[in-house]
Amino acid sequence: MPGVALYTKESRDRVRDAVDFLELVSARTELRRAGPARYEGLCPFHDERTPSFGIDPLQKVYYCFGCQASGDVFTFVQDTEGVDFKGALELLAERYGVELQREQEDPRAQERRRRRERLLELLDRTAGYYQRYLWESSEAARAREYLEGRGLGEEILREFRVGYAPSAWDRVLGASRRGGFSEQELYATGLAQRSKENGRPYDRFRSRIMFPLADVRGRVLGFGARAMREEQRPKYLNTSDNDVYHKGLHLYGGDLARAHATRAGEAIVCEGYTDTIALHQAGMRNAVGLMGTALTGEQVGELARMVHTVLLALDADSSGQEAMLRASSLAARRRLELRVVPLPAGKDPAELIQREGPEAMRAAVARSVPFVRFRVEHVLAEGDDSSPEGRDRMIEELRPVFATLPPSAMRMELTRIVSERLALPESVAGQMLAAVGGAGRASTGGARRANGAGARPDRPPAAGTRASDAAHTLSGREESERAFLALCIASPAEGTAALENLDVDEHFSSELLRRAVRRLREVGLAEPMAGEDGDEELKRLLAELVVKAGRETSRPTMLEAQRLQLELAYIDRQIQRARTRESGDVSALAGRRAQVKREFDRAYGRVLEETGDRPG
Ligand code: UTP
Ligand code: MN
Repeated sequence: MPGVALYTKESRDRVRDAVDFLELVSARTELRRAGPARYEGLCPFHDERTPSFGIDPLQKVYYCFGCQASGDVFTFVQDTEGVDFKGALELLAERYGVELQREQEDPRAQERRRRRERLLELLDRTAGYYQRYLWESSEAARAREYLEGRGLGEEILREFRVGYAPSAWDRVLGASRRGGFSEQELYATGLAQRSKENGRPYDRFRSRIMFPLADVRGRVLGFGARAMREEQRPKYLNTSDNDVYHKGLHLYGGDLARAHATRAGEAIVCEGYTDTIALHQAGMRNAVGLMGTALTGEQVGELARMVHTVLLALDADSSGQEAMLRASSLAARRRLELRVVPLPAGKDPAELIQREGPEAMRAAVARSVPFVRFRVEHVLAEGDDSSPEGRDRMIEELRPVFATLPPSAMRMELTRIVSERLALPESVAGQMLAAVGGAGRASTGGARRANGAGARPDRPPAAGTRASDAAHTLSGREESERAFLALCIASPAEGTAALENLDVDEHFSSELLRRAVRRLREVGLAEPMAGEDGDEELKRLLAELVVKAGRETSRPTMLEAQRLQLELAYIDRQIQRARTRESGDVSALAGRRAQVKREFDRAYGRVLEETGDRPG
């Protein structure tokens, strides 16, 4: 994290203290107790069948022996929910009821934050203004009738803070000026713009039904504004990208749907503002809207934070199809299950609910099918199977879909469906669908947000191979240095002594490990995470060491053997150096080496006696 920290270290520590780590992780993977300070389960960061993921619930760290993901409460939230450190901190603070304190900001940052707060206030007041105007002005009578005619009741419209913008050119301008806001602030929020002819400012939204666009906390960032008259273009005028509002970052209704969606584990994603409101009114309170974009990575992130399943209730038209395809490749990276809600052709959820009632919509949701199945059936239904070229085109279209499918019963089933439709033997269809032609690994393209050990390997490592081969290979030397540090933590008394007698620069091969040793010396072995200072790489390494230590029973003999091994490696390097410099102290070093080697052999012998192992 470059620059100044936003929140004080005390705040961060209080959040860490408040978090129930076992509960936090258990929401992602089932854990069982495996030792005094150790729980194990299937890794939430890669696919596996036998548990190689461990946590220490007291020190609040995790490490996966399979994919090397590691970290603390904050990285866990960062990596499972796709937020940055600040986002994770804020989320946990909110969830565990800790109030965050800001670091003294530099004056420019303070200035920026104040400005943003003013803009948000202006937007919020304006939303209130439009809302009052909708319900109170005679000018908005037609809008009220229109909304009623669409079956949307006052209660739900108030909940979504729907409003109406007057037809005059300067109502918002005037009200905002009287409230002490400047023209610059009105431009910055996109509420007013400057006339090209005479340079005079005027209200951007006029004679439109106003849908406030809020972030997940319900703060209004902009507006979607629906035309009331036929000739009024565009049908929806939205706030353009500015300092506060960025298209594609949020989901319409996300603030209202969030709690319901999380509880249900599912969210319904529809296209429009009116769809979202109609779904909420019909009791499907886990609905969110896309606001005129194809599902973006940020939106998928927001969804993945709330739910495991997304039900796409999008138009069957080509843009809806496009949105679904994009959604599917984004979702595959987030392990979000995508299902498609079959809607009658040409009907959106708002229309379906209005014409056929909430039950019809509920029934459609209940008939949702897995995205891949929907996609395959769609291609088969639309394609032309009367010529070999047509059939080839269908195969071509299906390949990227199959590329997202692991070997599974679903894959076999879909292969069978394709083979029947195209009159091909199943084995041939299977081969054609799997053939590479730019396809093959569509679902694995995007690495997850990097976890310290590097990005997650493209595929889960095959059983029996060590994941480090796939992710990143540590040198044998670094592995044994790490093992040594883990043993120090496992036997704190002996570990402290051992660490004190080492030369940090000489005994450790990487700068990261040296930082780790310095930190461990500084804060002690009992609570290695205590000195956390925003060095994320170090944090991830310490987390790994703590979890590895939790697997060890206190084994001073093993620690001693490991220490001697580091010492041997050190002497070897000294000998190497002496040789290349051709100086004469090689024989003294060799003597010392022989002595340490004898010590090592004895120590190792004791280890073997203790464990009953044979040398391997
Ligand atoms: P639709 O044209 O399907 O509108 O656009 P709708 O939501 O069904 O609206 P109603 O029911 O006619 O009132 C779907 C969504 O695409 C975005 C809006 O978010 C809209 O809700 N959109 C559409 C725009 O942003 N601009 C447009 O001009 C049209
Ligand atoms: Mn509609």
